[in-house]
Amino acid sequence: MAIMAGAAAAAATIPRLIKRQSDYKIFEIRISDAPKRVIETRLRLLSELVRSIGFSHGFATIASTCSRTGCNLYVILPPDDKLEKLLEGLFPEADIRVHSGNLETVLKGGRGDTIIPSNLLPGVELGQDQVVTRGEILIGKRIEDRRPIYASVDEFWRHTGVFGTTGSGKTTTTTFIISQLGRHVNVIVFDWHGEYPSNLKKIGAEYQELDPPPLPIIPDNLDIEITVNVLEDAFDLTRHQSMLLYQALKSMKRRDVIPNELEEFTDALLATVEVQQAVPSRAELEIRAALERRLRSLVTGEGRKYFSVKGTLMKMSERGITVVRVDRILLMPLRRVYVKMFLAFLYYTALSRNTTLNTIVVIEEAHNIASNDTRTIPSILAEARKRKLGLIIVTQSPSSLHPSVLKNTNIRIVHTLKSAQDIAVVSRSMSIPQELRVKLSRLPVGHAIIDTPQLETPQLAYIPVAELASKLQDEI
Ligand SMILES: Nc1ncnc2c1ncn2[C@@H]1O[C@H](COP(=O)(O)OP(=O)(O)O)[C@@H](O)[C@H]1O
Ligand SMILES: [Mg+2]
Repeated sequence: MAIMAGAAAAAATIPRLIKRQSDYKIFEIRISDAPKRVIETRLRLLSELVRSIGFSHGFATIASTCSRTGCNLYVILPPDDKLEKLLEGLFPEADIRVHSGNLETVLKGGRGDTIIPSNLLPGVELGQDQVVTRGEILIGKRIEDRRPIYASVDEFWRHTGVFGTTGSGKTTTTTFIISQLGRHVNVIVFDWHGEYPSNLKKIGAEYQELDPPPLPIIPDNLDIEITVNVLEDAFDLTRHQSMLLYQALKSMKRRDVIPNELEEFTDALLATVEVQQAVPSRAELEIRAALERRLRSLVTGEGRKYFSVKGTLMKMSERGITVVRVDRILLMPLRRVYVKMFLAFLYYTALSRNTTLNTIVVIEEAHNIASNDTRTIPSILAEARKRKLGLIIVTQSPSSLHPSVLKNTNIRIVHTLKSAQDIAVVSRSMSIPQELRVKLSRLPVGHAIIDTPQLETPQLAYIPVAELASKLQDEI
């Protein structure tokens, strides 16, 4: 029986340590006669002491097993003599063994001196009969037998859907998944409500948090055609409007008169549009006015902060989680445009450079940006996996998404849904069997019907995030 930190807790803490450095020491503490409660208290004390002498990140209790004859604890500490002494002082009756060596190998349960029992380690050699599906990312545990359902990182390139009514657990589930994905790939979260930093903190995951960086309307490295396509989609322009925009931009580019300031840019652009409509008809004037209204929203107030005319896109990291706080963009239409343009430019940049992105993007409240979208999101879903750009589409309203969005998700996690329409749409696209389907409208928080390519049929499962959170309390 694990008392402190089981496999899930290890999953959250180990990579952080590995990332930091490799020369930690693992202490195996064998205690034969101390009650569980006493051990827990001492470990908490150890946590506090470690923190008080300044090791704010480098400590973790990894795992423990207890039987009737005693407990084995596994603790990782930075290589510091003071800490070793401390440990000995705290567990005077225990038999303490120190292991060093290649921490990564040890923790992954690889060959060599595997110290920690493999059944306490995340996602490794659990034995064919113990896991439902395999992979690096734990998604949930089956309700009937608590067996874990894993997915491989590569399965995420073909996109993920997380559905459920408000409060059903979508954001928590997504946080749980990306906290694991972030160790393997780059993860960008468009944080619609500003919830991710605290959620990630709760489960001990590392991340960086960003104010939305200014987004260039005409990114340096992209063709005008692409810019216009993206703007057409982001602003819901009619064909005619986008045609005008295209001609104007092209002419400005040819004459090399694109100004740097947003305000001037809009003026110059609209002036160019005007010139092109030598004798504007009423209809054309209306088109110009509509175009103007839309572009003006970028240059007034908030827009100025989050958009620029030219520039390059944010540089992507190789690995780790970046939370982009789009909740700070207060004007909803602006927020939508921002997320959509960001995503589109990301994709088209990879396309034009013929590179892969190795990036998972979380789109929270996806119905806001993908509901009447027939272009950006559907085409990214259909094409982006070649570029290793995987989306996690999170929404309370799957039925309002373009049908291709549902079709193009590979991993689906469905929390409780109340609307008959949502239930119908999701059940149909996932072929959820009738006996599960009837449960969909009354699943408890954190429970979900999960489908992945490795599963023969969708499974009823829970997301073990509470297990993780409560077991992380002893980690600093
Ligand atoms: N798997 C889970 N285990 C335990 N509590 C959960 C779980 N998922 C969600 N919760 C709790 O339920 C509440 C709502 O979760 P949240 O993820 O914000 O829902 P949603 O994003 O669907 O609105 C939160 O307080 C969260 O802590
Ligand atoms: Mg949410």
